[in-house]
Amino acid sequence: MSARRLAADQPASFEMSPETKAQLDRIIAKYPEGRQASAVISALWLAQKQNDYWLPRAAIEKVADTLGMPYIRVMEVATFYTMFNLEPVGKFFIQMCGTTPCLLAGSDSLKSYLETRVGPQRKVTADGMFSWLEVECLGACCNAPMVQINDDYYEDLTVENFGKLLDDLAAGRPVRIGSQAGRNGSEPAGGLTTLTSFYGNDGRSGPISVKAPPSPGDHAAAAANKREQDGEPAALDPAQTRAERDEAQSIGKPPQSADSPPGSRTMPPLGEQAARDEKAVSDAAAKKFEG
Ligand code: FES
Repeated sequence: MSARRLAADQPASFEMSPETKAQLDRIIAKYPEGRQASAVISALWLAQKQNDYWLPRAAIEKVADTLGMPYIRVMEVATFYTMFNLEPVGKFFIQMCGTTPCLLAGSDSLKSYLETRVGPQRKVTADGMFSWLEVECLGACCNAPMVQINDDYYEDLTVENFGKLLDDLAAGRPVRIGSQAGRNGSEPAGGLTTLTSFYGNDGRSGPISVKAPPSPGDHAAAAANKREQDGEPAALDPAQTRAERDEAQSIGKPPQSADSPPGSRTMPPLGEQAARDEKAVSDAAAKKFEG
């Protein structure tokens, strides 16, 4: 990790805006009396947001005064977490993930592109639009490679779609947040490969043609479809008697023994199962001994 130091050029003072102060007061009120220091990260974050996404010394000291903390304690927090910028950043501040999954998916190409287009890390472009920083995993590895720009994630990047994204941001055009490859969330890049249809009772006979899928959110219809595919009885009628429902549930399950009471479960008795397990273990031990 590189050294994190305060910017050489510092403003003379920093005052919290009424909005920032009101937000911070609401956060401080969540903690017990005398524990307001617990709000230090939130306070620094709000101060940074107000100050074009970077923290001058005066803002750090203002936070310390507000929370009744020594300056050095707040300085330690601000310099430890990379979410706090200690120098001015561009209007679009790009945090590029360079950790292994993103690296394997091509983040080094994005890094070269940024070095060429934006310049060295931490330097704001002459027009004030961009600056960038390589950071560690941002938790979107399924959609690698990715960057965070201000508060949003942009994923499934290539040099081409990343270049277009920066063009659109610079020109003020609307951009798509999230995957730039068009996938939904972190679903498989090539489309769904599992849970695409229902299978037969033996689990191996392949997909069975299904009726038109139920409308999204219609869980009852989906469950009825599934039961039909699996050859199970229709949903139980709450008006059925307990015995009728138990009888209906037993369809497709191993037959009960003649002396099973009506409605009893069809699982093998625990004693039989335990005896089988014990025999399997002793057979294995005997085999090992013989070998
Ligand atoms: S490695 Fe890049 S988001 Fe996790």
